[in-house]
Amino acid sequence: MKVTELSVPESVKDILLRSGIAELYPPQEEAINAGVLEGKNLVLASPTASGKTLVAELCGLKHVLEKNGKVIYLSPLRALANEKFDEFKKYAGIRKQNGRRVSVGISTGDFDSSDPWLERYDIIITTNEKADSLLRHRAKWMDEISLVVADEVHLLNEAERGPTLEVVLARLMQVNSDLQVLALSATIHNVDEIADWLKSAYVVTEWRPVTLKEGVLLQEEIQYKDGDAKKIEKKTRDATINIVLNTVKNGGQALVFASTRKNSVTAAKKIANYTCEVLSKPAKRSLEQEAEKILSAGERTRISESLAELVKCGTAFHHAGLAGAHRRLIEDLFRQGKIKVLTATPTLAFGVNLPARTVVVQDYRRWEPGYGYYPISVLEYKQMAGRAGRPKYDKVGEAVLVAKTADEADYLMDNYVLARPERIWSRLAVERIIRGHVLATVASDFAHTENGIYEFFGKTFYAHQYDVKAIKSIIAKILKFLYDEGMINLSGEDVYATKFGKRVSELYIDPLSAIVIRDALRKKPANLTDLSMLHLIVHTPDMGPVMRPYASEMDALAVQVEEHKDEFFVEVPNEWDDHIAYEEFLGEMKTTLVLYSWIDEVSEEKLLEQFRVQPGDLYRIIENAKWLLHATHELGALLGNREILPLAFELVERVSKGIRKELLPIVKLEGVGRVRGRIIYNAGFKTIDDIKRASIEDLTNLPLVGPRLAKKIKEQVGGFVKKETWERLEKGEEWKQKALTEY
Ligand SMILES: Nc1ncnc2c1ncn2[C@@H]1O[C@H](COP(=O)(O)OP(=O)(O)OP(=O)(O)O)[C@@H](O)[C@H]1O
Ligand SMILES: [Mg+2]
Repeated sequence: MKVTELSVPESVKDILLRSGIAELYPPQEEAINAGVLEGKNLVLASPTASGKTLVAELCGLKHVLEKNGKVIYLSPLRALANEKFDEFKKYAGIRKQNGRRVSVGISTGDFDSSDPWLERYDIIITTNEKADSLLRHRAKWMDEISLVVADEVHLLNEAERGPTLEVVLARLMQVNSDLQVLALSATIHNVDEIADWLKSAYVVTEWRPVTLKEGVLLQEEIQYKDGDAKKIEKKTRDATINIVLNTVKNGGQALVFASTRKNSVTAAKKIANYTCEVLSKPAKRSLEQEAEKILSAGERTRISESLAELVKCGTAFHHAGLAGAHRRLIEDLFRQGKIKVLTATPTLAFGVNLPARTVVVQDYRRWEPGYGYYPISVLEYKQMAGRAGRPKYDKVGEAVLVAKTADEADYLMDNYVLARPERIWSRLAVERIIRGHVLATVASDFAHTENGIYEFFGKTFYAHQYDVKAIKSIIAKILKFLYDEGMINLSGEDVYATKFGKRVSELYIDPLSAIVIRDALRKKPANLTDLSMLHLIVHTPDMGPVMRPYASEMDALAVQVEEHKDEFFVEVPNEWDDHIAYEEFLGEMKTTLVLYSWIDEVSEEKLLEQFRVQPGDLYRIIENAKWLLHATHELGALLGNREILPLAFELVERVSKGIRKELLPIVKLEGVGRVRGRIIYNAGFKTIDDIKRASIEDLTNLPLVGPRLAKKIKEQVGGFVKKETWERLEKGEEWKQKALTEY
């Protein structure tokens, strides 16, 4: 089917044609034939890179341009949401019937807001969690949504994120009975079941833009699924290195999946020794500049240093311990083809779109802290293998599992390569998970009787798979718990949320976290400090599993606990009576000290050295802490604990920026973070007034500041930079830059 034949406005076709899309891919054609543009619900299950997004785009624009509708696009990850936002933005210039232009908005952060500003957008991209929180705030514009797109819907199977997605879909369908649903999925076993739940038609395809050859690699030989075999040139004893080199020499790129972060780094180091030899001189020179960029993006740590070193050889690693800035740089370099080999943990397979000619799955097992090794699912394997083959660059993509023995090779062939992805199951019926959703159902008035609550949960995927009776007893138990804790109340048949319950639901925290905070605030520590507050939030279940201290850290942590004894909101468990609880407490102390050091301006490198906390993990701790400190502030205000309010408020800012108190005024300036803020402050510019009085040259001469930022700072404090001064400063900077690149 040609784009020109589509029943969408000409303006949309023009944009597609201009971006080089003239013909639909077969799965897209099937989706159109299934009536998706006529408003039919659809589940589209088809492989990686088979163009599912385009179906969502066509359908979305149809709603906005012809039906006066509004679209919400649900994505499981922030990074993916950003990617989709960029894709939809290309339509933003088109005029609608009312003369206004199509507008595209994105909102992924701040769970405690109804974001009324989103109302003016036609197409809104959010994460599943953000959509859930918006529904809890009963954002008014959500009633006007006419199309919901649920991306990566197979993630219903995930313990943490799946339940949120099914609750969001069930709620949206409840709020708006005319809603069209478009669900996009990887190929899974029970697409029909999901489609049935969503009252949808479904399309399942195995079509891929690039042919995929799947196989198992044993020593130097690949056995393919289709019976073919191929020998790889033996350069080393490491089978992974041999196949990767083979790809690179033939002008392709390779993606190597390792089971742990550590293995991904080790593999990258080994591979880099070989890729270094095959790179051309100009390629190496360009990579050296890229390595510099990595070192100057964000804070320098031994991780970023080792990454930069590897990048010079055209190889890199990618895992969740990397700082966001570094991860994005690596992704871009791989997409541009400058990095030839990327080693990664399996999380990459679910994230951003990063195809490569060859995918190597080094280990079919995966490491989960607390569980040990377990074999990955077929679905996971297929997601990784599916990354093989770059459209437009590769004729064939190749995915191999590495086997160590002939027996293992047989096992891998039967259980992964030839196997079908498993069914997916709802993960909703877990007390910890469903607790908040039950409260929200009442608090946001999706139901106001006990039967109404069962009726709502009767619309979830869980009920569709198992019957609502199977969760009735859990829900009844939770209702009693919420009642006992004063979050809900009864009046005859009616169930309604108390002020406390409503606020907890809006704050998007686990009711249990709210109880921990409420109870703690009732009895204040003898000595209320920053550490008191930080420990309190670390103590809540929403902070996630605490960091496990290493044996060598235990004594030092015990000493710290003793030293800060009078600062905790909760009692320190007795080491002899309850050893397990005590060790858990030491773990909490470790996380608390990480945060405490962070707001004491300890560098990321030092945190890595002292606590072995990698930047990516640090950011997740910071994100959680900010959100829980905000929640503590709000609950304190509601429950009348005035004395903690200023402290909680200040800590939200300090944790967010990683600064001591005195930097608070100046880090408000855009472009000034903890590092530059400290430099400016130590140079004697301690307040906004000081900065107002400073000359632009004073600021320009500071390390890491430079003319561009100095000008930006001056403008923000209401200053004005004379044209001649600016030209002179900029010239100086150009010379400096030139000198830097020449030497
Ligand atoms: N009809 C088409 N002609 C040419 N290119 C296309 C066409 N449709 C989509 N593409 C391109 O294919 C690429 C992959 O599409 P998309 O991101 O939608 O994949 P997907 O099916 O969502 O896969 P994933 O499972 O990885 O999310 C995009 O770069 C897109 O621009
Ligand atoms: Mg997609």
